[in-house]
Amino acid sequence: MNYKIALIRGDGIGPEIVNETVKVIDKIGERFGHTFEYVDVLLGGCATDAVGVSYPDGTAELCKSCDAVLLGAVGGPKWGSDKPAEQRPETALLAIRKDLGLYANLRPAALRPALADACPLKRETAERGIDLLMVRELTGGIYFGRRDRYETPDRGVECTDLMAYSEKEIERIGRRAFEMARLRRRKVSSVDKANVLETSRLWRAVMHRLAAEYPDVAYEDVLVDNCAMQLVRDPGQFDVVVTENMFGDILSDEASMITGSIGLLPSASMGDGAPALYEPIHGSAPDIAGQDKANPIATILSAAMMFRYSFQLSAEADAIEAAVDNALAEGWRTADIAGPGEAAVGTKKMGQVIRDNI
Ligand code: IPM
Ligand code: MG
Repeated sequence: MNYKIALIRGDGIGPEIVNETVKVIDKIGERFGHTFEYVDVLLGGCATDAVGVSYPDGTAELCKSCDAVLLGAVGGPKWGSDKPAEQRPETALLAIRKDLGLYANLRPAALRPALADACPLKRETAERGIDLLMVRELTGGIYFGRRDRYETPDRGVECTDLMAYSEKEIERIGRRAFEMARLRRRKVSSVDKANVLETSRLWRAVMHRLAAEYPDVAYEDVLVDNCAMQLVRDPGQFDVVVTENMFGDILSDEASMITGSIGLLPSASMGDGAPALYEPIHGSAPDIAGQDKANPIATILSAAMMFRYSFQLSAEADAIEAAVDNALAEGWRTADIAGPGEAAVGTKKMGQVIRDNI
């Protein structure tokens, strides 16, 4: 088969980690007999530099002409929050997710066997294992609600960010979570702040309706503050965690750290049809950009998710994941996951040893 993949290399370390990942994809192609066609898509701070806006016209259409989208990372201090919205990389990231209808963000956080020592939690906790899937709502809530900024007569400037959710938006992400749980350990933890927020009370009511439709899946409500605590106290209790956009943004960074490094975790953003978008959950790390220091594993594992979910090629996905585990078991470490006294290799070398394991 031939697959067409849109590449958003982006900013900072983005181009380096996408480069290594493309070589991994090509190696899979050689081994399993597939060919890949790549379409470069300009988005992020690099787009602002090149054409004046972070989300050039036609970006979504270009992505829609492909079978899947692979994104490195976007953002950087050069295009900070003092810049107009249309020049900021984050605006483009939110826009592409919205325009492709990618409402479900799957962020698996699993402790890889070779890295049990990198888990910052107590040894007993790590030994119980961590293998959870964060299902984050990605196109609604406070990140997409109406924003306002106005002068008041007596309190200076005042701002508002609106958090809105409809039953329909909650139901489709909830359904995705229950369906994913059926492929895993059949437990859904729904995270909200129903003791305060009206959107959370609606969220909870819809989730309870769905829980009744999936009697084979265990269900619980967890308040978001308690969830933040449970993630570091006993993360092994979680299987699928489903939550709204902002809570998911925050909790997925926390979940990544307990697995050793944010440099390891992939993600898939999906809607109801193709293309889905695959990206590491980490940012563009401008401080180490262009120095061959970044960990390419999160992006390489994102490609594995692409094979699994967009191309339905699970043997190919397994081969990538096994190659990552083997490279780690052989002792290869990038700086972010090297223990004290352990030698670290660069981005390119890590990519190479992973390919050698395919
Ligand atoms: C993420 C990032 C983005 C988000 C930012 C860069 C807009 O933090 O993918 O988690 O909040 O979704
Ligand atoms: Mg984030």
